[in-house]
Amino acid sequence: MTKITVNLADSISVINPNIYGHFAEHLGRCIYEGVWVGEDSAIPNTGGIRNDVVAALRKLKPGVIRWPGGCFADDYHWQDGVGPVDKRPRRVNIHWGEVVEPNSFGTQEFVRFCRLVGAEPYFVGNVGSGSVRELREWTEYCNFDGDSTLAQQRAADGSPEPLDVTYWGVGNENWGCGGSFSPEDYGTEFRRYATFVRGFGKQLYVIACGPSNNDVEWTVRFFRKLRTDFWDFRNIHGYAAHYYCGTAGTATEYTVDQWYELIHKGLFMEPLVVQQRAAMDAYDPRRRIGLIIDEWGTWHPTEPGTNPRFLYQQNSLRDALVAATSLDIFNRHADKVVMTNIAQTINVLQAMILTQEEKMLVTPTGHVYEMYAPHQGGTALPIGIESESVTFKARNSENDLPLIAGSASLKGKRLFLTLTNSHASESLEVPVELLGGAEARSGSARVLTGDIHAHNTFDAPSVVQPEAMDVTCEGSHFVLTLPAASVVAVEIQL
Ligand code: AHR
Repeated sequence: MTKITVNLADSISVINPNIYGHFAEHLGRCIYEGVWVGEDSAIPNTGGIRNDVVAALRKLKPGVIRWPGGCFADDYHWQDGVGPVDKRPRRVNIHWGEVVEPNSFGTQEFVRFCRLVGAEPYFVGNVGSGSVRELREWTEYCNFDGDSTLAQQRAADGSPEPLDVTYWGVGNENWGCGGSFSPEDYGTEFRRYATFVRGFGKQLYVIACGPSNNDVEWTVRFFRKLRTDFWDFRNIHGYAAHYYCGTAGTATEYTVDQWYELIHKGLFMEPLVVQQRAAMDAYDPRRRIGLIIDEWGTWHPTEPGTNPRFLYQQNSLRDALVAATSLDIFNRHADKVVMTNIAQTINVLQAMILTQEEKMLVTPTGHVYEMYAPHQGGTALPIGIESESVTFKARNSENDLPLIAGSASLKGKRLFLTLTNSHASESLEVPVELLGGAEARSGSARVLTGDIHAHNTFDAPSVVQPEAMDVTCEGSHFVLTLPAASVVAVEIQL
C-alpha cells in the first residue's frame, strides 16, 4: 500500500533557506579552478570569479556557503588571505595533498563570491592551531563599522562598509582534524571563544562543533560540560554534526543492490537528526539552539587518474536521490534543523558543479537543489508517507528500503510537494490526499529521472536534467505517477 497525506491544517515550521546551504573548502579544485580563476584568466570572470559558475549557482539558490573548511579551517590564518594579493604568503595545505595555497582567494574574495551568488557567508574559525584573538579580530575586520585599525585595513582592502558576516563556526571536526579534543576539552575551548567573539553591532550566529555521524555521546558530554561551566549557553546559536553516507560500488559503477544500499545509507540522516535533537533537548528544552548538519553527502572512490587527496568524484542520478531524500528529511525537521551544507559546491565530493578548464556542468545533485528551491521560506507541513519497500542485499544481509520519500511546504495558496521513487525499474502510482479541507485546483510538475547510472559529462552535460511532467491535481484526492528512479517536484495551486 502506497499513500501520501499532506496535512494543511497543521504546520511544522518555516523552512530556513540555509537548509539549502553549501560548503566550499580549499581542497582540490573547489576554490582554485572551481570558483577562482584570477582576473587574467581566459575563462570569463568577474574580478577573478568564474561567471559561468556564478550564473549556475544563482539558479540553485544556496542560502549560505560555508568556508574555508573543513579540516583546512583549523590550519588557516585569516590574515594570510587579506591585503595586496602579491604580498600574501604561500602556505602548504597540510590536509589536502600538501599543495601550495597561494591565498589569492581570501576573506574579501569569498564574500564577493557569496554576494554574486546570492548566498550568506559562513566562516569557520581556527580552534585547532589558531587563537581566540584571531577569531575575535576576524569578526572585527568583517563587521566593525568604526575607525579601528582592523576596520581601516578592511577599507584599504576594498570594503569601507562592513562585510556583515553573521555565521561563525568555532572550529571544524574538533574531535579529529580540528585538534583531536575530547568533548569536555572542546567545551572549555568553545567557552573561551564564545566569550570573546562578538558582532560589533551585528547579532552573530555562533556555531559549535558537533559530532561525527550520530555520536550521541559527544553531544551529551559537550552540552553537559557547557551547562556546568557556562550555565546560560551564552553565544551558542547552532550546533553542527557531520554525516557522510559514503559509497556502495563507485560513483558510476554499481549494481541494483548497491543503488538501493546507498540510498538506504543516506536515509540514516533521519535517525541521526531525531537522536541528536533529542539529546540537545535534554540540555536546551526551549530549543534555542538550532541543529545544523554542516557537512554531508556521498563519498565515492575518487575518479581514476585524479589526485586522491583532491576528492574529485562523478555524480549520478543515485547521488540525486540521496540529495533529495536528505533534503526531504531536513524539511520535515524544519522546526530544529536550521542549516545544512552539502559537501562540496564544486569539484569535490557530492558536488553541484563540475568544471574542466573552461567547461562546466551542473550535476544531478545540482539539479535537485534547483528543483527543491521553492521549499525555501515555505512552511513545512506534516506529511504521512505509507510506502512499499524493496529488499536488497548488502554485505550478505537483507535490508528493506521504503520506496517513496518526500516533503511538503506551503506558501500562500501554493503547495509544493517533492517526492522520490527509489525503485530502480518500476514506476509507482501514488495516491495523494490533502487533509484539512484543502482542495487542489491545478498542478504542474518536473521530474529528474533516467537510467540508474545516468550522469552528466563534459561531452554530454545534459543527460540528466529536469523535464516537465504531466500531472492532474484536482480536489482533495489525486494520483501521481512517479517514474522509476525519479525525483519529482509538484507545484499545486489550492
Ligand atoms: O569535506 C572533506 C572533509 O571531510 C572536510 O575537510 C572534513 O571536515 C571532513 O572530514
